[in-house]
Amino acid sequence: MREQTAPLIVTSRQDAKLIIEGGRPLEGSVDVSGSKNATMGAMAAALLVGEDCYLENVPAIGDVGHMAEVLRSLGAVVEPTSEHGLRINAADLTGSSPPTELVGNLRASFLVIGALLARLGSAACSPPGGDVIGQRPIDVHLAGFAAMGGRVSRQGEKYVVESNGLKGARIFADYPSVLGAQNLMLAAATARGTTTIVNAAAEPEVQGLAAMLNSMGARISGVGTHTITVEGVQALHGTRYRIIPDRLEAGTFAIAAAVSNGQVEIRDVELDHLFSLIAKMREAGVMVEEAGDRLRVWREGELRAVTIQALPYPGLATDLQAPMAVLLTQARGVSYVHERVFDNRLLYIGELRKMGAEVVTTGTTTAIISGPTPLIGSSVRALDVRAGAALILAGLAASGRTEIVDVYHVDRGYERVGEKLRGLGAAIERT
Ligand code: EPU
Repeated sequence: MREQTAPLIVTSRQDAKLIIEGGRPLEGSVDVSGSKNATMGAMAAALLVGEDCYLENVPAIGDVGHMAEVLRSLGAVVEPTSEHGLRINAADLTGSSPPTELVGNLRASFLVIGALLARLGSAACSPPGGDVIGQRPIDVHLAGFAAMGGRVSRQGEKYVVESNGLKGARIFADYPSVLGAQNLMLAAATARGTTTIVNAAAEPEVQGLAAMLNSMGARISGVGTHTITVEGVQALHGTRYRIIPDRLEAGTFAIAAAVSNGQVEIRDVELDHLFSLIAKMREAGVMVEEAGDRLRVWREGELRAVTIQALPYPGLATDLQAPMAVLLTQARGVSYVHERVFDNRLLYIGELRKMGAEVVTTGTTTAIISGPTPLIGSSVRALDVRAGAALILAGLAASGRTEIVDVYHVDRGYERVGEKLRGLGAAIERT
């Protein structure tokens, strides 16, 4: 990935590495980019209409490029309008089934199915790929489409969903799946009648998609709670929509400030979205000052061990579980980390151990961390986007040199991460 001026559609080299000389406290201010996961939903939503949709505050990350390829494979025009602006026009769609090799790169690509089903009456998509963090079924999506009158079948490697006009329905989601809620909102926005999603995900990224859809003429309410109501409208129109700040990037910088024993101001955050993280960081002894759209984070004295549980929103985000575990290696006492969203999201612990962390796992969802332990620079591998971010934090806290390979995973979700951290005084280079 280029690190100078952010190009909006980035591609990162598979062999890129990050080299960190640890032990420097981070100091200064950093701006948070737009949310990766909210952008995925927003890009899919643009497929619902034949008019221009302009997205602002789009992060310059790998996954935006992947999603752009998926949309283009369907005939949509996707073009950068500025450093963080994107125009999407889906007036002349040429397909309703993205190629499997594109879908395999990106879990969010499955969102095109909800939008295409609504727009064209049929769509096909292979089971989506994504990070290796546990089982990731899509039954919530498929059961919801079926409840709205979609006929779901499997043809070869692809799921096919067809309908002669979706009808509003009351849908129970077995699990409050984030992409599931987004996919069902996309399908329901123009369905005949009202759709209610019970046990819906409440994540800010779901709220963000509803805000964009409402700006296109949809009538969606209840987002942020676990019951979402979508009153179907006849037609939607183009829009201009600003992507919400990335709470996960903001949280990663907040933890970076604390773990490096520095002091950082994090700008353009939505404080409400960070409530659980701030609460747990304070419990661990981190100082956090909230002011408007800013957060100031620093450390005074020793950190304390705490128990954390990754849960659906408003619980602590699973995407911040690994970064928090790194912080807890520096806390006095025994910390417990429970991952309750995904069933295999502790694989990064092996890499942390290489750096000297004292962590044991019981099963695949609980880690027990004893601290504080000095971390030692090592050669480690980024296993997915958040695990990679966690290793960067560990490298910042460690003595000596840390080399992180497979850093393209991090580039999928973090804009110019090396450059932003260098701006805070980190010694971090990309090779
Ligand atoms: N689940 C089901 N049935 C389904 C769908 C999901 O049981 O039909 C279960 C999964 O097995 C998993 C849990 O629900 O245990 C959570 O999965 P969910 O569907 O909510 O996750 P997702 O929508 O696939 C999004 C984010 C993830 C984030 C999770 C949880 C995007 C593109 N991805 O995934 O982000 O961790 O929600 O908040 O929005 C990341 O950014 O690094 C990332 C992995």
